Amino acid sequence: MRTETNFNDGWLFAPERLPFDAPDSAFDPVTLPHTNKIFPHHNFDNMEYQFISTYRKRFTLPEPRNGRRVFLDFGGAMLVTTVYVNGKQVGVNAGGYTPFSFDVTDVIVENGDNVVTVHLDSTERPDVPPFGYVVDYLTFGGIYRDVTLRMVEPVYIKDIFIRNPQTITSSSEVRIDLFLNKEITGGLEIHIWETQQHGRPTNRISDENSLHYASTHSPNENLPTYTEWGAKDGLQMWSTVNPVLYNLTARLYQFRNGERVEIDELTVRFGFRHIEFKDDGFYLNGERIQLRGLNRHQTYPYIGAAAPPRLQAQDADIIKYELGCNIVRTSHYPQSPHFLRRCDEIGLLVFEEIPGWQHIGDEDWQAISLRDVQSMIERDRNHPSIIMWGVRINESWDNDDFYRKTNALAHELDPTRPTTGVRFFQDSSFLEDVFGFNDFSNGVEEPLHTPHLITEYNGHMFPTKTFDGEERKMEHARRHAHVQNLAYGNPKVSGAIGWCAFDYNTHKEFGSGDRICYHGVMDIFRLPKWAAYVYASQQDPGQRVVLQAATHWTMGDRAEGGNDPIHVYSNVEEIDVYFGDEHLGRFLPDKETYPHLPHPPFTVTGLQMMMMWGQAFGALRIVGKINGEQVAEQQISSDGVPEQLIMKADFPELKADGADMTRITVRITDEFGNTLPYAQNAVMFEMKFEPSDAGARDAMPLPLRDPQLIGENPLVLPGGQGGVYLRAGHAPGTVTITAKSGRFEPQTVTITLV
Ligand code: GAL
Repeated sequence: MRTETNFNDGWLFAPERLPFDAPDSAFDPVTLPHTNKIFPHHNFDNMEYQFISTYRKRFTLPEPRNGRRVFLDFGGAMLVTTVYVNGKQVGVNAGGYTPFSFDVTDVIVENGDNVVTVHLDSTERPDVPPFGYVVDYLTFGGIYRDVTLRMVEPVYIKDIFIRNPQTITSSSEVRIDLFLNKEITGGLEIHIWETQQHGRPTNRISDENSLHYASTHSPNENLPTYTEWGAKDGLQMWSTVNPVLYNLTARLYQFRNGERVEIDELTVRFGFRHIEFKDDGFYLNGERIQLRGLNRHQTYPYIGAAAPPRLQAQDADIIKYELGCNIVRTSHYPQSPHFLRRCDEIGLLVFEEIPGWQHIGDEDWQAISLRDVQSMIERDRNHPSIIMWGVRINESWDNDDFYRKTNALAHELDPTRPTTGVRFFQDSSFLEDVFGFNDFSNGVEEPLHTPHLITEYNGHMFPTKTFDGEERKMEHARRHAHVQNLAYGNPKVSGAIGWCAFDYNTHKEFGSGDRICYHGVMDIFRLPKWAAYVYASQQDPGQRVVLQAATHWTMGDRAEGGNDPIHVYSNVEEIDVYFGDEHLGRFLPDKETYPHLPHPPFTVTGLQMMMMWGQAFGALRIVGKINGEQVAEQQISSDGVPEQLIMKADFPELKADGADMTRITVRITDEFGNTLPYAQNAVMFEMKFEPSDAGARDAMPLPLRDPQLIGENPLVLPGGQGGVYLRAGHAPGTVTITAKSGRFEPQTVTITLV
């Protein structure tokens, strides 16, 4: 039988290339996911992470091998990984975004000590995608995804691919493709079991005899198996509002000396859903859905790409629930399995693509890229959330030979999903199923090809910081609303995915010179700018009521002063606006400017009549109503005095696994809780840790036993808001973090490590 052991623990790390005989004392203990360098959130030199590092892990087999094969599975390491076990090289992988595995059976000591050594080259090697040319994002180094030790019988299930039926009918047939690793002679039996995610009893769905194979199978042969499985079993379709998931387990039996022996079991999770791109848009389960989304880079402040599962999942939640999007593009590479799993669970559609940025290399480079197509699809094709494969290098010129190959490979590996690819010019060869286009016209160009999807807009056209002036931030939000409105209004446009969700670290060739592209609708800490509310307010108010006025509410922040007009991003039906105690008026959504948006913003005018330069200036109050009932209110103080320091830990409890993390945000606000964008205060953090078992904690090796605060300290808040992260150590206990800033009441959060 198979066993899989999490191998994230107990690594040693050195930021240089060390020989095998270097003493352990030359390294620091680390836990995966790991970044080869912790950075300030901006203003650094990105050469600091471009080096070769050495990882080492000593291990014994977690249980007797009993004739099984032993593999080391790497989820992802940046960029070229050479792995040695007991001093012998077991493999090299080029590419930072897809998984790789090495069979180490023949080099391990079964009953004794082993050592795995990794030399990881995190420099931007031009021979490996996405490099060869400048790229507009940083590719932080490190073994930044999970490592697993896997033991399997000589014959094992390599992969399962469930081809989703188009609909669930009482007699629908589900085809399940099973891939074994090698030739098998003699009998083979496969049983398939289904369990619904939430508590339904396990149910064997295969008829034993129908899945009995007695013949010889060649390596990697696909064993298609069919099962009648449908409405009679109470199956439900997966959708964005009701993301129903199922687990499927396949068990493999072999006849050894006449006896039936169970040799492997593998479970995959999937959902049933029907996707189709037509000339007039995208259909999910037969219903047209306008795709409204944002691009996501996988990087975070301080920790680069080394975010644990909890933070990966949180990004999906932010994009779906805080930003109200129904789709995310994983620009420009396959992203964390933990992120994708969460997209499945919450019903967030995904457009996933291969690594690359504008540049196509030589034949060897293209060979790596084709492998990326294969690894991405093999890793991810059971995710119901993924609706397309991007098989072009983002914004490259045409290269029909190469892209015919990437397309053919994608279709062969997954005939159930359309391909696409992202371009910056419309008269490019259209080889895929969906035409992906970055529309930087500040409007919506008339499509030349359908199905047509806008894969980027805005971004570098209007970089905007949380600490920019009011007019720029208003205009930033307005541009996002404008493009979405036009996309909704053109039936040939399946949807629009804006650039981008979060500000991100970049090279000096891009961004604002401080290593940040301020292109996000949220900042690098995932805290909102006003443009975030353009998206958030398109949600059904049944999901969440949103009301945000895009104003600093000052008399003199705009050129020539004043406040007229104010845009309010909201999904309510009407708003009442008050100036001090005076009722300025009642406003309806601005359907004239934004006729196509589900929830047009409000344009509040007439303020200049009441607020003359030099006159008394009162608070702003906006009351949002649905069916005549008040459902939302925002008040903004007129005095601009910082009243509160607000601190929040996103998660009150973390796993004491040395890797788990929570974000801790701090904001300086007015009396009503509105962030004050020019409050560039410094915040000092103090951490106290009380282990639940002091003796056990003292016995753990330093320094991984204790939690760690990751981030700048003091942190000077850019735009009145910012954050740090708490990483759990291995010792359980209670962490208290206190934030202090000037005259504010110190704030405290408590996090339990279990
Ligand atoms: C696009 C590119 C993105 C990002 C964006 C900025 O051309 O695909 O990666 O650089 O511009 O707006």
